[in-house]
Formats: sequence, C-alpha cells, structure tokens
Amino acid sequence: MLRSHASARTSLKKWCAALLFVLGTSAELCLPDAIPEGERQNVLDSAGREIPIKFIVFDWHAAEVLSSIAKIMVEEALGYHAVFDEHRPFTVMDVALKLSGCLDSTCNDMQISDSHVALDCWLGSAGTDTDTFMQQHPGKAPEDLGSIGYEGEEALVVAGKLVDEAYEHSGFALDFYRSYNQSHYSARKHFDGIADLPREDFLRCDDPVAIFVDTPYMNDYARWSGDTDGLLAVEGGYNAAGLLLPTSV
Ligand SMILES: *[C@@H]1O[C@H](CO)[C@@H](O)[C@H](O)[C@H]1NC(C)=O
Repeated sequence: MLRSHASARTSLKKWCAALLFVLGTSAELCLPDAIPEGERQNVLDSAGREIPIKFIVFDWHAAEVLSSIAKIMVEEALGYHAVFDEHRPFTVMDVALKLSGCLDSTCNDMQISDSHVALDCWLGSAGTDTDTFMQQHPGKAPEDLGSIGYEGEEALVVAGKLVDEAYEHSGFALDFYRSYNQSHYSARKHFDGIADLPREDFLRCDDPVAIFVDTPYMNDYARWSGDTDGLLAVEGGYNAAGLLLPTSV
C-alpha cells in the first residue's frame, strides 16, 4: 500500500486485512456504529484547503475491491470524507507520481497533490524507476506501508490435459522447461498459434506501461536467464524483444 505524506496520519492496512468481507455501496452505511456522512471531516491539503481523502485506484478488480473496503473504513470508522480518483492508472509509477504531486520523476515541477492512498500496489514488479523515484525523493514520494496481508505470484501455467497429451503422444514433458528446445521437439504443435489469440488481450512489448521496456529490470533478466534471443539490445542494456504480451489473466 502506498500513502502520501499529506494524508491523515492513520494506517489503513490493519482494517483492510481484517475486513475483507465488508462490501457495499457508498450511499448506505455498512458498519454498525458507522459515523454518518453529516458528521465526517475533511483533511487539509498543503495549501490549507479542506479536501476529502482521495484514493487512487489501480485499473484492476482487486484494487477496486480493496479500495472500496478501505473507503468504507475511512468514512464509517474514521469519520473522514473519502472519494476515488476517476482516473484508473495501470502503473505504480503513475500512482507514485500522483500521490507525491511531482509532475515527473525528477520532481523539479510539482503541483499540490489532492490524493492520499493507493492499495494493491505490486511494488515487486513495479520496475526500477519507481524504486529509484521513492529513494531519491523521500520527503515527497509516497511511503510504502508494507503488505496488507497477502502475496501474489506470477507464473507460466500449462493445462494438465495438455501436459498429459504431450507425454502420451511423444514422451516429452511440457512441465519441464528443457522440453521447449526446438532442436529436440516442437512443443508448439500442442499450442494455439499467435494468430489464434485475441489481440485485445495483449500489450505490445514496447508499450511504455510495460516493465519490459525498463532497461535495468530487463538487464537483470538477461543476467539471470542468458536468454538474449528474447531480448533487444538498447542503450544501457536490454528491453524485451517480440511484440505481444498478455495484458492480464
Ligand atoms: C537445445 O538443444 C541443443 C542441441 O542439443 C543444444 O545445443 C542447446 O544448448 C539447447 N538449448 C538450450 C537453451 O538448452
């Protein structure tokens, strides 16, 4: 979770972890002993104006759910007005900038930030630019308040039925990465071709929102995998080669 320095000095993470079952629309009260709307307060921005606590909500479902829960807690348990920013960003860097008020990662130009909290920030896959930004601007960049109680993993998955079929058919093990060596076996015959896949579910590898154009990040990939065929040499190291990536699963 990221919280901007201008926010109310209260951590949301305990409630978010504890109250995963609370969902509802903002018009009704959800909690017993809820603080009604008319009794809620605003916070002050850095110019001293009264504003509600504003959540930046990432453009995926889990962020929407977690932010909705946290918003209820902020409104009904803490007694502050709370709103969601309309824009649904996709990258942690976008969110970090929005919370900081910095117009870009140099922070030379700033505006008064009207946003305070973001949940479901996947910092581990956020890329090095966010890390660097957070380190270089400790007083402005949002603060990482740590895990809200669950971990995520990214993995490549092959359906069990396919694995069984390939093994029965040829004795090759699709669940073992060395089987995917074209010199020995054409694993592609078990899969759909690129033309069969829905284009709208994919992102170009050179799309700036993708981590695959983050050179320091991809340099680590090159170092650990040695997979230079999957990489494109660029100034300062590597980007991912190839065209398409799944946007989500
Ligand atoms: C693929 O197999 C060939 C032939 O055995 C071998 O030379 C090559 O190193 C293998 N590639 C990988 C990535 O293991």
